[in-house]
Amino acid sequence: MCGIIGIISHNNVQHMLVQALKTMEYRGYDSAGICMLEDAASGLKNVKEKGKLQHLQQALKQQPLTGNLGIGHTRWATHGKPEVRNAHPHQTATLAIVHNGIIENHQALRTELQQTGANFLSDTDSEVIPWLWQQQRTQFSNEKEAFLHTLNTLKGAYAIAGLQAHDPDKLWFARRGSPLLLARGSSGVFVASDALAVAGEADEVMYLQEGEWGWTTLEDTYVFDVQGKSVALKWQAMPHMVSATDKGDYAHYMLKEIHEQPRVYRDILHAYTDVSGSVHFPQADFIHNDTLPKRIIMVACGTSYHAALTARYWLERYLKVPVEVDVASEFRYRDPVIGDHTWLITLSQSGETADTLEALRLFKRRTPHNKTLAFCNVPHSSLVRESDGLIELYAGPEIGVASTKAYTAQLMALALFSLQLAQQNQALDTKEVQQHIQALQYAADHVDVLLQESHQFDMLTQIFSHAHGALFLGRGPCYPLALEGALKLKEISYLHAEGYAAGEMKHGPIALVDKNLPVVVLALRQYHLDKVISNLHEVQARGAKIILITDLPKSECPQDVDAIVNIPEGDFFSAPLIASIPLQFLSYNVARSKGTDVDQPRNLAKSVTVE
Ligand code: F6R
Repeated sequence: MCGIIGIISHNNVQHMLVQALKTMEYRGYDSAGICMLEDAASGLKNVKEKGKLQHLQQALKQQPLTGNLGIGHTRWATHGKPEVRNAHPHQTATLAIVHNGIIENHQALRTELQQTGANFLSDTDSEVIPWLWQQQRTQFSNEKEAFLHTLNTLKGAYAIAGLQAHDPDKLWFARRGSPLLLARGSSGVFVASDALAVAGEADEVMYLQEGEWGWTTLEDTYVFDVQGKSVALKWQAMPHMVSATDKGDYAHYMLKEIHEQPRVYRDILHAYTDVSGSVHFPQADFIHNDTLPKRIIMVACGTSYHAALTARYWLERYLKVPVEVDVASEFRYRDPVIGDHTWLITLSQSGETADTLEALRLFKRRTPHNKTLAFCNVPHSSLVRESDGLIELYAGPEIGVASTKAYTAQLMALALFSLQLAQQNQALDTKEVQQHIQALQYAADHVDVLLQESHQFDMLTQIFSHAHGALFLGRGPCYPLALEGALKLKEISYLHAEGYAAGEMKHGPIALVDKNLPVVVLALRQYHLDKVISNLHEVQARGAKIILITDLPKSECPQDVDAIVNIPEGDFFSAPLIASIPLQFLSYNVARSKGTDVDQPRNLAKSVTVE
């Protein structure tokens, strides 16, 4: 959610700024801008454009900037519409900033600053930062004090990069509540929201901790804590990052990422299982060494939350302890009762989701003795750094805003985690665990075949041509899958869709059923097949168009449904990994038929770093 970059270099930074923004466009694409400084005499040069980064690139062709110091921003609007005047960088005559986060006391600050002559041009909360910083510069002759006072006056969350017009040698930065890192390489020193933004440029990286701030020149970097005390610099080698900017021959990143899933399944199996079929999580030793928990709490947002809901069925069946699953934004504010011997599991593709991070922090504050485990795709993310253990997802960078491979990677990793705990709890013996692992390996092969035959999903699109919405139904682990199928469809095709537990359908949503409401029924042999088929007949009798996704052979499928998608049969753990595929293609194909922007759907951003 908003990507920020700052660069100080031996060379002109315009190209590097734009390249960095390109890799962070998934964080927001409402507008983009850069501000550069050539020397103290030339003043700040700012170019911003509404819409995607390509508009900024066009503008910079007409109006190239020069300078070895610059900041850039790609925006996901919180305060103020996506307009040029609301785009970052925001500046006064003497300084400029880019900001990710929300300044909660912006209204009060705006009023105060206006009284002292500030001339606001935007509707954003962020614009108070340069005016406040400028005001503090007039009050404190020491520029360190001025910046610290600025930060201490701000309430809310921020990652900031900034520069001052009189000083082309210094790049300022601060982090509280929103991710930010420093990086350096032969071409210069960087401040960025995401390590991906500096991959290829930086050799070393330093992840700023909460409240840290400072400035950097090309030669020296200074970092301070909230009190203004110096913090030791902890440069570490830049992690290897796979280049994610290439779509290959695919029309969209989402399609590419759907096709990567068998590789992801196999990488996860390779990372966590060995030839004897045992499961080991090297970055979460406590799983193997500690006594099993008496309770598990799982917290996540969106698609990651759906993955957690599926795992509850797996864990409760074999671990026989209560597993509570909550959306992070509710958990963090509902005063949860936690208790001892409880593990917190967080799930996140990005590891920077503000609500999930705050849920983790609340849990740690309340019960510091309990263990915390992150299932995460970004091993250096804030979530991972603040958790006791990590189960890495090995999905590789996910660029399409609608999550596909990171979701099924979560399912795969959760299945292995559930199997390991089941074995430790002696609910499954080694042979049974091996059989389930084999079924997970087969799932990768089955998905390979489904991907080769993906044209079979094309016929579903036409059923949606006059649809006013869609209903997705399932029971057991297919219920969260139904939620995920509906979320995917609404995210990228903008069609209203609901996922429902098939047994709940009669308690309300059946009133929606008519001939223009496609109902996607997930009927798998593992999960209460007969009952789901009865629910199918109930909606069918009321005229709904039925799309049946099933592992039943055609001959055993109910007749007269509008479409049948046959998928290979999985076991209790692997079935959702296979059934996810037709749901992903369904949403992808419907979105394409509607002509929406599949990879960057309206209003969304990939990394939700504000609450
Ligand atoms: C949906 C989607 C979102 C994310 C959610 C949490 O396709 O991607 O619902 O799952 O914003 O993000 P992470 O997993 O990064 O915490």
